Amino acid sequence: MTGFDDFVDIIKAAGEATRLRLLALLSQGELSVKDLTDILGQSQPRVSRHLKLLARAGLVVRVAEGSWAYFRIAETGGRADFVRRLVGEIDPEDPRMTHDRLALERVRKRHREQAEAYFSRIAASWDTIRSLHVPESALEAAIVQAVGANDMEHMIDLGTGTGRMLELLCGVYRRGTGIDSSREMMAIARAKLAAASIFHAHVQLGDISRLEPDIGPADLITLHQVLHYFDDPGTIIEQAAPLLRKRGRMLIVDFAPHELEFLRKEHAHRRLGLSQGQMEGWAGAAGLEISGFEAFPKKGAGKDLTACLWVLSST
Ligand SMILES: C[S@@+](CC[C@H](N)C(=O)[O-])C[C@H]1O[C@@H](n2cnc3c(N)ncnc32)[C@H](O)[C@@H]1O
Repeated sequence: MTGFDDFVDIIKAAGEATRLRLLALLSQGELSVKDLTDILGQSQPRVSRHLKLLARAGLVVRVAEGSWAYFRIAETGGRADFVRRLVGEIDPEDPRMTHDRLALERVRKRHREQAEAYFSRIAASWDTIRSLHVPESALEAAIVQAVGANDMEHMIDLGTGTGRMLELLCGVYRRGTGIDSSREMMAIARAKLAAASIFHAHVQLGDISRLEPDIGPADLITLHQVLHYFDDPGTIIEQAAPLLRKRGRMLIVDFAPHELEFLRKEHAHRRLGLSQGQMEGWAGAAGLEISGFEAFPKKGAGKDLTACLWVLSST
């Protein structure tokens, strides 16, 4: 329950055209200040001022990551429901809503294209690049152990790349599906699976931010070094969760929070790692709970990174 004066402040914060547009945009997922500025076509100081007011009223949360800042709708104190109800009252055909929806789609398309260009460039060397940043053998042993010897019907590997997870876990599933948006990565994955005589897995071109429900159900979903390429990893988890069978698990490998900005510039990363708190929030929103966690630090000439393995289980 919110106190009277606090509630007046909340309504005042939301009761302004740009701030209402910001709430409508952020109710569709986390966004960086830069993207919000591009979408609204307003100056960065102006957009930041509005975001600051929304944050002060507890409607949005700021997450600083290196030189970027991300914003999302606050989940606590019923704020998320309040914002959703508020935004739900707005006519979606209003010209400002239509403008912002299309501009958001353009921004997301630009990010997808940047990631695709990067992956088509590095596809042939991805297996080497991956091993530069993580202690691969320890991590892979932990993945195999976390999955166990369960005889599973179906495994889905989202952002499968060269198909490493399908290859590593080929003994535990009867049917494997890998999804990726890079044709170059797909070509390598197909060749590698065939060379290893893994004929019970196949890979298909697709966008994991728009998953078709008919690719499920699955007993295991893996997201290995994929989520940091998305502004809003939570929506990927939320979309994938309904594909899980009862007692199914989602296995996520990604970096702990870090400050290596060069990974954005040179390797198309968007998020500088994922925190335990973020993962708890995303898992909870997707109806999952964290049932396992392990961290794997790797030291390297001023480029220390920690890879984390999270197991999320359906509750
Ligand atoms: C860093 S690679 C990881 C590949 C693999 N999971 C591994 O660990 O070797 C990330 C993969 O995610 C894919 N990817 C990025 N955005 C995607 C999207 N929207 N839909 C499907 N795949 C995507 C890229 O093409 C790339 O192959």
